[in-house]
Amino acid sequence: MSEVAASDLPRLPPAYRLVALETCESTNSEAMSRAEEGAEDGTLVWAREQTKGRGRRGRAWQGLPGNLYFSLVLRPDCSPQHAAQLGFVAALALGDAIGSVAPPMIEVQFKWPNDVLLNGRKAAGILLESKILEGELDWLVLGIGVNVAAYPQDLEPPATSLHFEGAPDDVTAVRLLEAFARHFMSRANRWLDDGFAPIRRDWKYHAYGLGEAIGVDLAARRVEGRFKDLDENGALIVELPDGGTLSVAAGDVYRIG
Ligand code: BTN
Repeated sequence: MSEVAASDLPRLPPAYRLVALETCESTNSEAMSRAEEGAEDGTLVWAREQTKGRGRRGRAWQGLPGNLYFSLVLRPDCSPQHAAQLGFVAALALGDAIGSVAPPMIEVQFKWPNDVLLNGRKAAGILLESKILEGELDWLVLGIGVNVAAYPQDLEPPATSLHFEGAPDDVTAVRLLEAFARHFMSRANRWLDDGFAPIRRDWKYHAYGLGEAIGVDLAARRVEGRFKDLDENGALIVELPDGGTLSVAAGDVYRIG
């Protein structure tokens, strides 16, 4: 692990403690081991290069040059169940950050649970990993990967990057991280003050597939129905063909029909 030259460092608000690495296997792994050693709330591990990134559900996250890889250690005073709402807070902050640096014609959408789509294709993913001690949340690591300059070519459905969607070259990983850090503070403060309701409302306003026919890949099966709602805990509510509803806590959504 080597450190980044001072002139290349992102400038973050003082509430963050930046750990800047030239390269590492996974910023999530790095942030989790620092959290275990007592790293404080707001510790943000950023790496210019990531060699063994991981995504949700055991998938790999490719480490392409020029993209953004970082993980934030959080110690919110809330239950483990409520902490999952921070994934939606982060997705909104990422949407705000992208909106502040990218051309206005780029359409930003949120795909359940925490993906960010640009013009209908995935450009960013969020991985939440946490430690629960005797039923209480000890720490939460919010890991974020954004395709700024490049995107994997072999994914189905296809991915995209900010540059591919028309963001200028001066929109860099560092600039996006700086914008995210500011917007996340504001979104997280709103969440702390007013709870999940305003976050849920804003997320739903730009939700991919809401009200439409969707398929959901669960751990052991696939269900189809209508994306009816996001509930007050962040679960996906699917209306099934027989009129019943299913509350989904983890899975992958795709549009059908
Ligand atoms: C997903 O969409 O499946 C979530 C992807 C999360 C990837 C990021 S990149 C930075 C951080 N470090 C990791 O190993 N994963 C997350």
